[in-house]
Amino acid sequence: MQSNKNLKGAFISLEGGDGSGKSTQLKLLTEYLVNNGYDCVFTREPGGTKISEKIREIILDGNNSEEADETEALLYAAARAQLVKELIIPSVNAGKIVVCDRFIDSSVAYQGYARGLGKKFIDEINAYPLKNCMPDLTLFFDITPERAFERKGGADKNDRIEQSGMEFHKKVYEGYKEQARVFPNRIVEIDAEQSVENVFGAVLRALKDKKIIK
Ligand code: TYD
Repeated sequence: MQSNKNLKGAFISLEGGDGSGKSTQLKLLTEYLVNNGYDCVFTREPGGTKISEKIREIILDGNNSEEADETEALLYAAARAQLVKELIIPSVNAGKIVVCDRFIDSSVAYQGYARGLGKKFIDEINAYPLKNCMPDLTLFFDITPERAFERKGGADKNDRIEQSGMEFHKKVYEGYKEQARVFPNRIVEIDAEQSVENVFGAVLRALKDKKIIK
């Protein structure tokens, strides 16, 4: 018999800026859930479905420098619409735990705040794609971009913080902090300056507090 320890289906998103340690924690969480027999689906934004991955290629294509900010925001919303309908809603309804690397808060932080389109515009264009499908829990790995940059010992030649500018990343951070103030029940702010083990301890506590895991 297939083991399914889930208490109920759930939707978790992970958020944070470059260098926040989000990828490391995602890996640890994946291992933990799989090793403990939870029925899970791991996905990412932009992407996660065939169509959404194609949209991702357009968005992240470095040659599309003429892309308007509004177009970029709408493409993220389009990729999200497909992911929500094709994967997230059916999986949660089937009792699975869906773990998504980034979701709507990335659009608010990056396009709304950092690109300056505003939170209202982002909320409006995402109202339909979301279909009231919001994460039960969002883990925000909280570290300022200045500290993230210092922590990894400054720039290397592929450094994205350096490439797109510290000012941009400060606005992303401000956007995340504002979202966390607006949605204190959904968004758990995790101090990402702690050791990897302690950050992961906070991740597991957040899932337990929400009764997503035992
Ligand atoms: P990715 O290579 O997946 O990066 P990361 O490891 O940082 O998650 O790239 C995703 C990029 O897309 C990342 O820079 C954040 C950005 N993004 C937005 O600007 N808006 C969004 O709505 C989403 C989902 C992502």
